[in-house]
Amino acid sequence: MAKANTTNASPTLLGEVVVIYDPLTDGPELLSKMASTLTVMGRNLVPLKVRELSIIGGTGAFHRARGYGLKQTYSIATATLNAIEHYNVTVIHY
Ligand SMILES: *[C@@H]1O[C@H](CO)[C@@H](O)[C@H](O)[C@H]1NC(C)=O
Ligand SMILES: *[C@@H]1O[C@H](CO)[C@@H](O)[C@H](O)[C@H]1NC(C)=O
Repeated sequence: MAKANTTNASPTLLGEVVVIYDPLTDGPELLSKMASTLTVMGRNLVPLKVRELSIIGGTGAFHRARGYGLKQTYSIATATLNAIEHYNVTVIHY
């Protein structure tokens, strides 16, 4: 996480940048099959049930992916805050 000096004083946390690495799998179980990478960017406003994020790239089967994803928390471990997120994605790729 990185943030501007003024972020803590901002009610919207303006200036905060968070990088998340979520392994992309075809199901919510820990041993689900891994899929190709999608690069997602946008405002992930966690209190919202569904967040819309931009798909700005990808690798493997998702070369040059462009599109959007609807992200929803599937489950969260309250002790660690580790979450399983569900994405519905619509992408154009080559
Ligand atoms: C941000 O805070 C740091 C540490 O207090 C300070 O050195 C720096 O000058 C500040 N930057 C700005 C743009 O205010
Ligand atoms: C994603 O798609 C599934 C299956 O169509 C649907 O049940 C679910 O509500 C959708 N979730 C979001 C966040 O759009």
